[in-house]
Amino acid sequence: MPLPYSEIVMEHFRHPRNVGRIEDADAKSIEGSPACGDMEAVYLKVDPVKLRITDIKFESYGCASNIATGSIITEMAKEKTLEEAKAISWKQASEALGGLPPIKTHCSVLAVDGLRAAIQNYEERHGLVKERVSTTVEVVRKRLKRVMNPLTGLDLVRTKVVEDIKIAEGAVRVVIDLPADHQFAANIREEIIEKIEPLWDVDKVVVEFTE
Ligand code: FES
Repeated sequence: MPLPYSEIVMEHFRHPRNVGRIEDADAKSIEGSPACGDMEAVYLKVDPVKLRITDIKFESYGCASNIATGSIITEMAKEKTLEEAKAISWKQASEALGGLPPIKTHCSVLAVDGLRAAIQNYEERHGLVKERVSTTVEVVRKRLKRVMNPLTGLDLVRTKVVEDIKIAEGAVRVVIDLPADHQFAANIREEIIEKIEPLWDVDKVVVEFTE
C-alpha cells in the first residue's frame, strides 16, 4: 500500500533536524493536541539584543506528520527574529513538506502551536508582551488545559481534577483534586507553576492537593 506522505515528509520523518532538548533553554513549551492526545516540546535559545532565534530543538511524541513538521519549522525558524518566526504558519510548513494528508492537518498545527508557545514563553519571561491582559480564572484554566495528567494522557481540565482557581493580588492558587502523595503530584505541581508563573502580573503560584 503506498504511503500517504510526500517524499519530503518521509525524508524529514526518517532524519528529523533539530531533535532533542536544550538544557539551558531561554524558553520552552509543551503543547498537547486535543485532536489526538499527542504532545510536542520546543526549546529556544534567543539572542536577547537582536531577539533572534540562535538555536531551536524539539521533542515529539506525535506521528510522522508531526515529526516532519517539527523538523521543517525548526529549520525555518532558526536565525529568524521572534516576530518573523511567529509568522510561520502551518500552511507554509505543509507547503514546504510537499503537502500533508488533510486528516493530518492537526499534527502540523500542533508543531506550529509549539513554536508559537515557546516564543510566547520567551516574551512573557522577558517582559516583551505587548498586549497585557489581566490574568483571570479563564486565562489560568486555559493554561491548565496544557498541563497533562500523566495517568490518563489527557489534560487536567478535561480529566476534571481542577477543583478551584483563585486569584488575589498577584497570587494564583490552584487546587487539584488528587492526593498530595499521588505519584505524579510533584510533576503536576511543577508543570502548573511553569505554565502560570510567566504571566506578567503573577508573582506567586500555589498548588494545593485536596487530600
Ligand atoms: Fe497526533 Fe499526528 S496523530 S500528532
